[in-house]
Amino acid sequence: MDVEESIIRPLQRGDEEQIIKLFDEWFPVKYPPEFSYQICRYPGKYQTKAIVTKGNKILALMLGQFEYGVQVEQPAWSMTKRKRGWGDHYDTAFHILLLGVRKELRRQGLAKKLMDLVIVDCIQQKNTVLIYLHASVANDAAIKFYKKCGFIQSHPIRALYKFGNGRYGDAFMFVMEIDKPYSFCTVL
Ligand SMILES: CC(C)(COP(=O)(O)OP(=O)(O)OC[C@H]1O[C@@H](n2cnc3c(N)ncnc32)[C@H](O)[C@@H]1OP(=O)(O)O)[C@@H](O)C(=O)NCCC(=O)NCCS
Repeated sequence: MDVEESIIRPLQRGDEEQIIKLFDEWFPVKYPPEFSYQICRYPGKYQTKAIVTKGNKILALMLGQFEYGVQVEQPAWSMTKRKRGWGDHYDTAFHILLLGVRKELRRQGLAKKLMDLVIVDCIQQKNTVLIYLHASVANDAAIKFYKKCGFIQSHPIRALYKFGNGRYGDAFMFVMEIDKPYSFCTVL
């Protein structure tokens, strides 16, 4: 598959059927098809970055959203050095909701490429101080990946996921603080 000639773009109309199949392959949590239609046609608050071949084959996808102070899950703030609280309304976090790479293309740096872009976006967004996400305690590849990227891992959170087989699974939260360079741009 033409990874070298791939581009990165948001999801778009026409990607829906691929996304439904990929979500089925990638995630034990079952997402309704309506969700795939929504993120391809009316993304609204969701930010998507897909690595796509010239022929529009989706190779990898990251989906997340920016959240403001009170919307951010409190444990994420508690894991930061500054111990922000729900009262810090102007601090924003980027919450990664989904990340997946086609099986045959794993361990080639595609997920890392998407993560690097998200980090750059967050550095450029003045108030974004945090990236966070959850991963199943059983997802060894994801845990290793997030640790390699520099995320800090929480204690297990009980029964966060409901899987397609009706069972519940524990998860870790992963948090990365975004260091903002001090701003010298005040004009006196
Ligand atoms: C987790 C996932 C997104 C990683 O994607 P990827 O493109 O293979 O990851 P990368 O190639 O960018 O990996 C970067 C680094 O992370 C670590 N890593 C990634 N997958 C790993 C694995 N299976 N075992 C050990 N380390 C791994 C390695 O340090 C790797 O660097 P290296 O290959 O130079 O050693 C992919 O395995 C996947 O799609 N899994 C199914 C969906 C899923 O579980 N998503 C996460 C939900 S929270």
